[in-house]
Amino acid sequence: MEKRVGIIGAGTSGLLACKYILDRGFNPIVFEAAESVGGLWNHTIESTKLQNAKETYQFSDFPWPSSLQEVFPTHSTQVLKYLESYAQHFGIIPYIKFNSKVIDIDYVGEFYEKMEHQMFLHRGKVHLYKCLVGSKVHRVEFVVLCIGRFSGVPNIPEFPPHQGPEVFNGKVIHSMDNAYMDKASAAELIRRKRIAVVGSQKSALDIASECANANGVEYPCIMIQRTAHWFLPSGSCWGVSLGYLYSNRFSELLIHKPGESFLLKLLATMLSPLRWGISKFVESHLRWKLPMRKYGMIPKSSFFQEISSCRIGMLPEKFYNKVEEGSIILKKSQNFSFCKEGLVISGESLPLKTDLVILATGYKGDQKLKNMFKSQIFQKYIFSAASSLVPLFRQIIHLQIPQLAIIGYSESLSNLCSAEIRSQWLAHFLDGNFASCILSINIWCNDQFCKDMGQEHKRKKGIFAEYFQPYGPMDYAGLSPVSER
Ligand SMILES: Cc1cc2nc3c(=O)[nH]c(=O)nc-3n(C[C@H](O)[C@H](O)[C@H](O)COP(=O)(O)OP(=O)(O)OC[C@H]3O[C@@H](n4cnc5c(N)ncnc54)[C@H](O)[C@@H]3O)c2cc1C
Ligand SMILES: NC(=O)c1ccc[n+]([C@@H]2O[C@H](COP(=O)([O-])OP(=O)(O)OC[C@H]3O[C@@H](n4cnc5c(N)ncnc54)[C@H](OP(=O)(O)O)[C@@H]3O)[C@@H](O)[C@H]2O)c1
Repeated sequence: MEKRVGIIGAGTSGLLACKYILDRGFNPIVFEAAESVGGLWNHTIESTKLQNAKETYQFSDFPWPSSLQEVFPTHSTQVLKYLESYAQHFGIIPYIKFNSKVIDIDYVGEFYEKMEHQMFLHRGKVHLYKCLVGSKVHRVEFVVLCIGRFSGVPNIPEFPPHQGPEVFNGKVIHSMDNAYMDKASAAELIRRKRIAVVGSQKSALDIASECANANGVEYPCIMIQRTAHWFLPSGSCWGVSLGYLYSNRFSELLIHKPGESFLLKLLATMLSPLRWGISKFVESHLRWKLPMRKYGMIPKSSFFQEISSCRIGMLPEKFYNKVEEGSIILKKSQNFSFCKEGLVISGESLPLKTDLVILATGYKGDQKLKNMFKSQIFQKYIFSAASSLVPLFRQIIHLQIPQLAIIGYSESLSNLCSAEIRSQWLAHFLDGNFASCILSINIWCNDQFCKDMGQEHKRKKGIFAEYFQPYGPMDYAGLSPVSER
């Protein structure tokens, strides 16, 4: 049982967590609900490709095969094979229990009531997790949740009474249902149908594009967008690769970061016109390249705002050609509801007559996480934050939930790359490699706390005092608001 780590999920994140935990000599057991590795790449619609150029979505120690010509590999034939060969190459498969859906996890340690007021890692007591798989209980000392943020629990909009799918004569599905269909059934579902797709992000664009390919102008696909977003037809703008604009260290100098030093703050402020200019440079390219203005699809947010919140994707091939020929009709509407014949949207007096509505409205990743916990207290912790995002230290550890890590919930331009470095950090953490004696680096450690709180970490007045006067408790006065007690 010693060093037994339970990993839930064998998608990209679970494979990475398992590989790095194995490297440190732990004894992992991976529970995977499906019968194979690869997670969501097993269930995508036919046209799905990697949105990143392949060299930015690859394992650091396992490059794509040199025989692969495509810059943006396709889902099952290429991405899935790549993930499978990674699992084979690093001997991960024997550690995976397939067809093993974890129903819930239950922490056995301090009483929950006590724990509500305590912090991470209790020592000297029995503490482990019971993972319920079918009717069998597996005991592990640490759990890594790699259950995926964009799968499993769909986000279905809510409607007032008598305005939801129940009054509609046609069929309503979520993009996830579409992704789970086999090729023939998915093709049959959309064939010669009047289809409306709700959503303006990547799934919606891809599905609308597939419908247009299948049905042409005879049965145009209506896309209902609440918000217009910037999308890229390729990875470069005016001949400059996006990587040079947004993925190097210089580009991060232009952005304010939590807890940054005075110098970095000053630099980001001084360089903000350049940041604005880069955003406009990209926007000008997209406005020139795509007829967005003609269709009222110029986003209100700047390109910079969109890329900062991970709302940037690649446009499906010839998307606006389909809009121009009329096989895709773009409609903007803040709200929508159902009636007998189809959909009612704002600004249109007549309903949009529809046979099939596909809700490409995203996923409830936080709900999926919450459902994993038997304890209502832990469930509450997952949803307790004021922000809509689960608060995780280094985007990995929830500070109120002991002996548990979450990989795959932070979004970036390359999610594989983000999951890999977090898996490496986690393995390092589990291996006990974080110093417990901090005598010689005490000030450096306190700097990190100050930065986490967004406070200045250099606490003394003047360079001489900063570097040569000993640091003591009073240097840290005023980090928190003054108590009124
Ligand atoms: C259609 C689509 C395309 C994408 N394309 C890109 C892209 O091009 N570039 C990019 O950077 N990101 C992309 N993403 C984001 C994507 O989420 C990540 O790149 C990555 O593949 C996610 O891997 P994961 O392991 O975290 O999650 P998943 O792939 O969702 O894997 C989760 C695994 O956990 C298993 N599981 C869940 N619950 C349980 C349970 N209770 N018990 C046991 N097993 C369980 C599931 O069966 C699944 O195998 C895409 C997302 C989607 C939906
Ligand atoms: N590699 C690929 O080709 C590929 C393909 C598909 C998906 N993905 C990835 O998978 C992830 C999920 O993408 P996704 O497109 O499925 O989901 P998503 O990014 O969460 O987008 C959901 C869309 O639904 C809209 N929406 C949500 N609730 C709504 C409501 N009540 N009424 C109207 N519209 C509503 C949102 O509108 P707003 O825009 O107004 O918020 C948004 O446009 C992303 O990371 C994406 O990049 C990648």
